[in-house]
Amino acid sequence: MQPGDIRNALPDRAPEHGEPFDTIFADFERVLVPGLTHWNHPGFFAYFAITSSAPGILAEFLSAALNQQAMLWRTSPAATELEEVSLAWLRRLIGLPDQFEGVIYDTASVSTLHALAAAREIAVPGVRAQGLAGRSEIHGVRVYCSEHAHSSVDKAVILLGLGQQSLRKIAADGEFRMRPDALAHAISEDRSAGLIPIAVVATVGSTSTTSVDPVGEIASICRREQVWLHVDAAYAGVAAMVPGYEWILRDAAAADSVVLNPHKWLFTPFDLSALYCRRMDVLRQAFSLTPEYLKTSEGDAGVRNLMDTGIQLGRRFRALKLWMVLRHFGADGIRTALAGHMQLARTFASWVDASDRFERVAPVPFSVVCFRLRGADDAAQQRVLDTVNSSGDVFLSHTKLDGRYVMRLAIGHLQTTERHIARAWELLNSAAH
Ligand SMILES: Cc1ncc(COP(=O)(O)O)c(C=O)c1O
Repeated sequence: MQPGDIRNALPDRAPEHGEPFDTIFADFERVLVPGLTHWNHPGFFAYFAITSSAPGILAEFLSAALNQQAMLWRTSPAATELEEVSLAWLRRLIGLPDQFEGVIYDTASVSTLHALAAAREIAVPGVRAQGLAGRSEIHGVRVYCSEHAHSSVDKAVILLGLGQQSLRKIAADGEFRMRPDALAHAISEDRSAGLIPIAVVATVGSTSTTSVDPVGEIASICRREQVWLHVDAAYAGVAAMVPGYEWILRDAAAADSVVLNPHKWLFTPFDLSALYCRRMDVLRQAFSLTPEYLKTSEGDAGVRNLMDTGIQLGRRFRALKLWMVLRHFGADGIRTALAGHMQLARTFASWVDASDRFERVAPVPFSVVCFRLRGADDAAQQRVLDTVNSSGDVFLSHTKLDGRYVMRLAIGHLQTTERHIARAWELLNSAAH
């Protein structure tokens, strides 16, 4: 596709009179389907490969048909309570303690925004009423994350009015993990300068390489410094279900909040992000606000009104798809699928390691492999990737590590088998000639 192809194939005005559905659907197939990027294809290896699944798709149909809007318990008791139940199931599967209360948002970006809003609520006195502007008694605030953290942390500090300069990126070690000594040093330097450290974001499964920050050591620093610890496990968190991988979230038990995205690696159609928070009372303190027209008699009877846990009033019935996915696959089915993806990634990594054309540039803790063409410049790497992608058989993406262009192969589709990664490998090798 070229930019504008879809736009140009469609009229620039809505029809004055309704059209038959057959005509609409014919255009859907003729114009839109060729312009789709097929995330639901087993050869999709870009970004974090997101796979949907039949129970998740059915749940989306049902959710649209039922049109639940779960702002209040009263406006959908089922959606409200199923969210609590399905998030508790997931929490137990990944081994987080029961003290973590969960809430569903659309994306990890929004989950992290809410976590940092709660951190700001605690650290900056009176912020809800007075905001930050013009307060001479506050010399500045700081949020910390590794240089490999996701850009959603930057966006959160921008939106929270902290300013992008308040985000201090901490250096990583040779395996792309945040260095706790550098974090401790940064916090003490900032305190001496009169700044208020608000929060640290540790990443379990970073976007480029899926590296895991040393959450245990970071948690000790946060406890000592009384700083909110948010763990971004958006992609990798679900792997804590797999025997041998429990360690990835073990130390997150000491965090204040943890985000993971069933829409990344739990076969749930986009979108569904789960935020677990030990201190949901703080999040409610930051956001709850009940105008007269939303007051209900159950409000005082201990029910959860989801509008209290965030910026949005209306809530989709997202829990339905999580519940159906967890029931359909069962914990065992999910573990098997995740372990299978990690095995495929190790297989692909072994081919890269044995090759004299390509080299691996990062460890492979989960289902992503980062590699590059040996001894070639960035332009050559990009040419190889473009050639491979133009085949239409597979789709890979890239990142930069230590300033150099790197190709990434991310496995996450339920139907990806060795045949698909072998095809990617074949295309890469022929493009590298
Ligand atoms: C580690 C990490 N955190 C957060 C995000 C943002 O996810 P979302 O698209 O759900 O906002 C991503 C996206 O890839 C990610 O890799």
